[in-house]
Amino acid sequence: MAESESAIDKQAVAQLRAIADRYPQQRSALLPMLHFVQSLEGRLTAQGIEACAQILGLTAAQVSGVATFYTMFRRRRAGTYHIGVCTTALCAVMGGDEILGRVERKLGIKPEETTPDGLFSLEEIECNAACDFAPIMMVNWEFMDDMTPDKAEKLLDDLAAGRKVNSTRGPQIRSWQDTERTLAGLDDGLADEGPSAGPASLRGVDIAREQGWTARPAASAATATDEPVTSAKAAKPAAEKTTAPAKKEAK
Ligand code: FES
Repeated sequence: MAESESAIDKQAVAQLRAIADRYPQQRSALLPMLHFVQSLEGRLTAQGIEACAQILGLTAAQVSGVATFYTMFRRRRAGTYHIGVCTTALCAVMGGDEILGRVERKLGIKPEETTPDGLFSLEEIECNAACDFAPIMMVNWEFMDDMTPDKAEKLLDDLAAGRKVNSTRGPQIRSWQDTERTLAGLDDGLADEGPSAGPASLRGVDIAREQGWTARPAASAATATDEPVTSAKAAKPAAEKTTAPAKKEAK
């Protein structure tokens, strides 16, 4: 589709309304609606933003304010495979910078650019809360854990050749626009594909199971000395604790 054309037609608006109607507070639908716009347009367009604003009774500026806050929403068209390379501290020291350099040379693009054939776009991403698998890459928001420059290059070769590629956590990599439809909440039967957390993240849970550790039951956890702290109480005890010993010393 040419940059000037828009896929936000009557049918698209009806689908956006259907997404909004799923929520008791329709404004809660804004993020999935924006993902739906991206699935149609490859990015957030002025027409898409305006359609969301009209349906939800917001201004275009309010919708833009939300869209520009979250890095998953793009103003430039994403490639079929949107590649993210994490270069935040832990991934960087584990090789993230080298991976990014290799990907840049392989694709011939820099972050925020798209290859001329539209197959790949590249983004230098912040920590994706997957530090236990550092260094990581993302392809269309799916995790590629424990990466190396060589693994990254093979991954790009496989995607370019149209070979089936799976995230290291299970799900098959699909096009960026198909993935955006999933994020919009449209039922494609794939929402629960793959694990939500990898083995390294679940190691603490595994150890607790092996040792027979359990959390304290909620009822016994609330004792006289360990009662739930409300926001009103939170500030008060601090002052009491500091003044009480001083009275004793004065006697
Ligand atoms: S630093 Fe890369 S996932 Fe946390």
